[in-house]
Amino acid sequence: MSGLEILGTGSYVPDFVADNDKFSEILDTSDEWIYPRTGIKKRHLAVDEPNYFMGAEAAKKALENAKIAAADVDLIIVTTCTPEFFYPATACLVQKRIGAVNAACFDVNAACTGFITAMDIAHKFLETDKCKTVLIVSSEKLSNQQDYTDRASCILFGDAAGAVVLRKSDKPFYSFLGAEGDEFDALYCKVNYQHNCPFYGDQDAFYNGRFDTFAKQNYLWQDGKAVYKFAVNAMHDAVMNVAAQGGYDVSQLDIVIPHQANMRIIGKATELLGVPPEKVYTNIEYMGNVSSACIPVGIDELNRAGRLKSGMKMCCVGFGAGLTYGALIMEL
Ligand code: UT7
Repeated sequence: MSGLEILGTGSYVPDFVADNDKFSEILDTSDEWIYPRTGIKKRHLAVDEPNYFMGAEAAKKALENAKIAAADVDLIIVTTCTPEFFYPATACLVQKRIGAVNAACFDVNAACTGFITAMDIAHKFLETDKCKTVLIVSSEKLSNQQDYTDRASCILFGDAAGAVVLRKSDKPFYSFLGAEGDEFDALYCKVNYQHNCPFYGDQDAFYNGRFDTFAKQNYLWQDGKAVYKFAVNAMHDAVMNVAAQGGYDVSQLDIVIPHQANMRIIGKATELLGVPPEKVYTNIEYMGNVSSACIPVGIDELNRAGRLKSGMKMCCVGFGAGLTYGALIMEL
């Protein structure tokens, strides 16, 4: 079975920074509450930049880093749960901005598990020789969906984009994807269609009342404790699954890049797995949770710091709305 080679990486992080003190100006909160419970000190917010713009900037940097011309990209997969458009796919807007005129384009929405899902899809496309070069762009503008009166949620999220350029390789690659749709109402942002049609009845009745009145339309809502509980076990199980596929012992992993939702979740899940903290990459302290962009931004930071070496076994693991979860192990 073939694997994936990362030819180049890129990221885009907005200039504007909101630290925890900035949130205590608008909410009854404090750095003393936020930092110990989440590991977050600040997050970047896209004041002017749209999501697709951030994605295109990350893509340009990844192509430059890979020394690949935009015209040589065969497929663009954008992962996002915060697009500006229902359609077209954000991938098409990225295509236009970077001039990848020969690429097929589509988006993937697996929420924060989006990047791992896109890697799994890219692997399958490349393995069957359906294309030669894939560009994955994970771009998220969570600030569009926050209820900035909900102190338990809005302080967690930031905006950013990360991108990778991929080709087929002969090195090992293993991936696993899972979902618990039963818990779909633990974390969601519901579309508000009702105002469009004068004939609509009570659409929410179809969900058995599982969208609550306290969740404002179009804003992110979550049951933080339910997500927390799910996340620790899901991350553990996903890593054990991919490790078993490749016949690896977890101790053989050189670097683990987890979804950056909460430092305590990362700590608990990696402790359960027996991965020592020095092998776990985190950027949550200065990025917050940027959903599907967390992992590719982390990969780009590691790549640019010269910390990704040939032969290393890299593991990425995530979870998110759905509730979805997944992991991959690839040899670099
Ligand atoms: O990509 C996936 C995205 N989602 C997640 O990863 C969510 C995972 N869950 C979490 O990270 C945690 O559950 C949170 C950080 C969201 C919340 O932490 P918690 O320890 O579960 O707090 P809680 O919601 O149980 O709230 C405890 C108290 C409450 O006050 P009372 O009712 O005990 O008086 C909250 O109102 O803390 C209060 N609180 C805050 N206080 C100051 C909640 N948020 C804040 C805040 N500042 N920002």
